[in-house]
Amino acid sequence: MVGDARRDDTTTDHNEHVTSAHDCPSSPTSPPAGEGLRATLGGVDNSVALVTGANKGIGKEIARQLADAGLAVYVGSRDATRGERAVAEIGNGARLAVLDVTAAASAAAAARQVDALDILVNNAGISGDGKTPDQDDPAAFRHIYETNVFGVVTVTNAFLPVLRRSAHPRY
Ligand SMILES: NC(=O)c1ccc[n+]([C@@H]2O[C@H](COP(=O)([O-])OP(=O)(O)OC[C@H]3O[C@@H](n4cnc5c(N)ncnc54)[C@H](OP(=O)(O)O)[C@@H]3O)[C@@H](O)[C@H]2O)c1
Repeated sequence: MVGDARRDDTTTDHNEHVTSAHDCPSSPTSPPAGEGLRATLGGVDNSVALVTGANKGIGKEIARQLADAGLAVYVGSRDATRGERAVAEIGNGARLAVLDVTAAASAAAAARQVDALDILVNNAGISGDGKTPDQDDPAAFRHIYETNVFGVVTVTNAFLPVLRRSAHPRY
């Protein structure tokens, strides 16, 4: 349950898993990893976030930075194996949410894992390799819209009930 996933900031060293490229060389003025994001978000203790498409790329880095900042983070991945690998690499109590954004049943099942959600990052997406509609197979073009447009609607609708239960809503 999410209550179990929430972080105890009094006992956890958020710097212990930080090995990524975003971790700048420290200087006397550099805040500890996660502190900048903590300041930006303002009050993240006991906050819960979900990032879709977080098994690689930008989504994985967003998930890593949110976890470094002390949030309980669900790493969205349509493939469980790739997702588990990312969860292990992110550490900091991150956990997997198997979620294909094009499948309403998958989004609903993922939403049932979560008691309350404070931040939803609709990151999952695909590109058309630079092809314009006249060059692309219509089915491939439709799949881009299913993922990048209707996927966002599907996931947001599935998670609205748990977003509304957030103790720290952000508008
Ligand atoms: N990188 C850029 O320059 C750039 C520019 C503009 C916009 N964006 C957008 O930023 C987001 C992240 O980009 P990125 O460069 O990090 O892309 P990426 O490395 O290709 O990662 C995309 C992520 O989305 C996931 N995904 C794709 N289809 C999915 C689905 N149906 N359900 C769930 N997850 C799905 C992928 O999972 P799999 O590993 O299973 O495929 C992967 O985790 C995307 O929405 C992209 O369109 C990126």
